[in-house]
Amino acid sequence: MATEPMTAADLRSALERVRAEVRQGVDRATAADLEALRIRVLGRSGELTVLLRQLGSLDASERPAIGALANEVRREVEDAIAARTAALHSGDLEHRLTSERIDLTAPGLPVRVGHLHPTLTVERELREILHGFGFEVFEGPEIEDDWWNFEALNIPPDHPARDLWDTLYVAEPGSWEAGAPRPAEDGTILRTHTSPVQIRAMERLQQPPIYVIVPGRVYRRDASDPSHNPTFMQLEGLAVDEGLTVGDLKGTLTYMCQSLFGPERRIRMRPHNFSYTEPSFEFDSSCGICGGAGCRFCGGDGWLEIGGCGMVHPTVLRNGGIDPERYSGYAWGFGIERMAALKYNVPDIRYFYENDVRFLETF
Ligand code: DAH
Repeated sequence: MATEPMTAADLRSALERVRAEVRQGVDRATAADLEALRIRVLGRSGELTVLLRQLGSLDASERPAIGALANEVRREVEDAIAARTAALHSGDLEHRLTSERIDLTAPGLPVRVGHLHPTLTVERELREILHGFGFEVFEGPEIEDDWWNFEALNIPPDHPARDLWDTLYVAEPGSWEAGAPRPAEDGTILRTHTSPVQIRAMERLQQPPIYVIVPGRVYRRDASDPSHNPTFMQLEGLAVDEGLTVGDLKGTLTYMCQSLFGPERRIRMRPHNFSYTEPSFEFDSSCGICGGAGCRFCGGDGWLEIGGCGMVHPTVLRNGGIDPERYSGYAWGFGIERMAALKYNVPDIRYFYENDVRFLETF
């Protein structure tokens, strides 16, 4: 490499060339170009750096002027790079402001919101309707024993509901493991109806007037069919007050059904037998599809059964700590899925348990 020392004039023109070169290219430089330029001119072995090293070999009298020029060029290069960098950034900002503009007045994207399951919708509606009548919600356990589920309700020991084949008993500890399961000696079962909560409510609330409803899940050893399932929901109701009659029972339940199903629905009460009511009735609603004329949905009958009801048996009042000489009561226990099926004209309650969104989305 030529080591011929540069003269002051050589250095001066080399510095001016660097300056001209930078001035020329900087305006259109991209961020990457600027970085390359900085390294090529100002870097450790950059053009300007190399030229500055030559200063030492100049005559002392020439050094100040060339040194001053070199500093001037360096400052100009630095300033030009900084200015172009700033311009690029503000261009970026402008670009982003236009490309990322948000229109705050644009309508939002629709969000898919779910809704309550139809059985729950019906349960909530029933709460609402009966709340208007002064009934409050009272809840009880799903695991009961023989006393609460049967005995206290005046259900005799030989009643078929107590049969192993009708009721889900909890096994006596150890009997399952031993390969010979038998019902727990303390009679622990999954409740077969919400009626035991009648007794719990009377015991807890003590003084009539008592107006309670009990929504809840119940369990039976039922095979499932269009109107049965081993677990389902009931809405129990209990009113205890002075002078209540079958008229109050019928009026309340008629109002409840017509509020839920619509005023065109008729109701029917048929004599029945429950050991915890006297008299007892089965309660039917006219079919919503045929209006009572008879169709496939109601089996040609024109009526669909919702549940049972009656005037609370004096023994049951007494078991709840209420004086049957002074007070009377009425009670009912209706299936919520059956009521939902009646409201929405669903021919099979098993649809409610399948969780098929195509079915659920129709509500
Ligand atoms: N517990 C009955 C059942 O599950 C329904 C029922 C009938 C409830 C008469 C009542 C009643 O409160 O008074 O089939």
